[in-house]
Amino acid sequence: MFIIKKERKGKDYYYLRQSIREDGKVKAKTLAYLGKTKKEAELKAKEYKSKTENKTMEEAKRKEITIDELANFCKRKGFIYPSADIYGGLAGFWDYGPIGAELKNNIKAQWWKHHVHGREDTVGIDGAIITNPKVWEASGHVENFTDIAVVCKKCKNKFKVDESELKDAICDKCGGEIESKGKFVPMFTTQVGPIEEDSTLAYLRPETAQLIFTNFKLVQDNARLKLPFGIAQIGKAFRNEIAPRNFIFRVRELEQMEIEYFIDPNKKDECPYEIEDIEIKLLSADMQEKNSGPELMKIKTALKNKIIQLPWHAYWLSSSLNWFKSLGANMENFRIRQHTKNEKSHYSTDTWDLEYKFPFGWKELQGIADRGTYDLAAHQEKCGKSMEIMDDASGKKVLPMVVAEPSFGVERAFLVFMNEAYASKGEDNVVLKLSPKIAPIKAAIFPLVKKDKTLVQIAKDIYKNLRKEWNVIYDESGSVGRRYARNDEVGTPFCITVDGDSEKKKDVTIRNRDNGEQKRIKIENLKDILRNLISGEISFNDLK
Ligand code: GAP
Repeated sequence: MFIIKKERKGKDYYYLRQSIREDGKVKAKTLAYLGKTKKEAELKAKEYKSKTENKTMEEAKRKEITIDELANFCKRKGFIYPSADIYGGLAGFWDYGPIGAELKNNIKAQWWKHHVHGREDTVGIDGAIITNPKVWEASGHVENFTDIAVVCKKCKNKFKVDESELKDAICDKCGGEIESKGKFVPMFTTQVGPIEEDSTLAYLRPETAQLIFTNFKLVQDNARLKLPFGIAQIGKAFRNEIAPRNFIFRVRELEQMEIEYFIDPNKKDECPYEIEDIEIKLLSADMQEKNSGPELMKIKTALKNKIIQLPWHAYWLSSSLNWFKSLGANMENFRIRQHTKNEKSHYSTDTWDLEYKFPFGWKELQGIADRGTYDLAAHQEKCGKSMEIMDDASGKKVLPMVVAEPSFGVERAFLVFMNEAYASKGEDNVVLKLSPKIAPIKAAIFPLVKKDKTLVQIAKDIYKNLRKEWNVIYDESGSVGRRYARNDEVGTPFCITVDGDSEKKKDVTIRNRDNGEQKRIKIENLKDILRNLISGEISFNDLK
């Protein structure tokens, strides 16, 4: 960082700048305005640097958490337990406790709000988990959704490899020689019908997407959708993973949040929406081949330089990143990576992954694939019914293509938000800095003294009133400090305390989880203020 002086109309202005590498070039970026005198500038620069260092130290603290520590914390605080823990659990299956169920529901609700209710071109559906097995024959899952299971001859580590990688593969744990156990289809099977000879072999869906394709014509007709449009779905999916690992990162029972975004194939380059120009680490297929990158780049620059081929992909990548950003995630922990030629799914011509820096390294968070007309064409052929729709603009029938399939595991989003929020305070205290929008408990209400009947009554009345709108709790046990700490650990953003002045002044204190700051507010304004704080319309600093 360095200070520069600029002269304008005879006056001096000081700025703090930093050299950064952007799109392969070194550029100087202004970080802050420092005032009009050298002394003032030096002082402000010092403050800025110390603030940044503190932030970096906090970041460093946060990053120290391992995935096992996070799993232990989640169990201890009621977020997530191994499924049927009393019997020793079952690999790849997890149960969500009282706090975890709330957080998971809030993540899904925020996704639905952003991607379905927040868009005029998208509707949502809720398809069945078990459906006609022909769906999975048509989609190519029965034939192509296969993995090769391998076992390390030395450490017995089991994992899966792609057929193309089998020849050169070595153990991903110890580097030992591996032995192939052959191909397997990671779809769970079941029998539909109680009498075995009359029953049908069926699959538990391995993705939610296919139900969007099979219902495509009905949904388009019912919702009177015109191209381009999206159909979204949140729901369970099942994959018999050979090696479930890293807590809830790779599970056997998962939940997906998926959108199939349909366009006229003749209008592949026409994206009518504004692309938010987010700056992000980018790793193209080319960079991976050359063992270079990633490079920090603006999404629009990547599009202009034809690294991202389609405007629609740039749009969906930035829209997905934006969703994380709107819920408080730090973009430094995200990057976008293009699939290499060997990696792409059987249906895709171009795929980008959104990756996140998990405690165990950079891993896939979300895939954005161009599926072309593969699925609709396959179902059309298998069921013998047309999947074409009338395009009003051209007056012709078209078979729409999926230009982007933002497909996303709820468990991975859960891990991201927990990892981003987890911060330690002092020796043992954890403060979970979750965005108020997804925090499991929005507020905790305390009487300062539990023996004071008046304070208890006021606190309980507030609790009853707030409970009509949010998940809030009433807590009167232990010292107020202990109650704050308990709530900090599960991410409750606001604690409301009724004290000796509350009866006379008709007000309470409200405490901000992230810095412990407290303000007094009138009880009659509490609900409106809380609503605005949760939605982000106002910040805690805006309170007088
Ligand atoms: N419809 C496309 C599809 O299912 P995918 O890349 O196989 O594509 C999409 O899965 C997303 O689902 C992944 O990016 C990941 O977030 C999540 N996902 C897939 N398998 C998972 C697993 N075993 N455990 C947790 N999440 C998983």
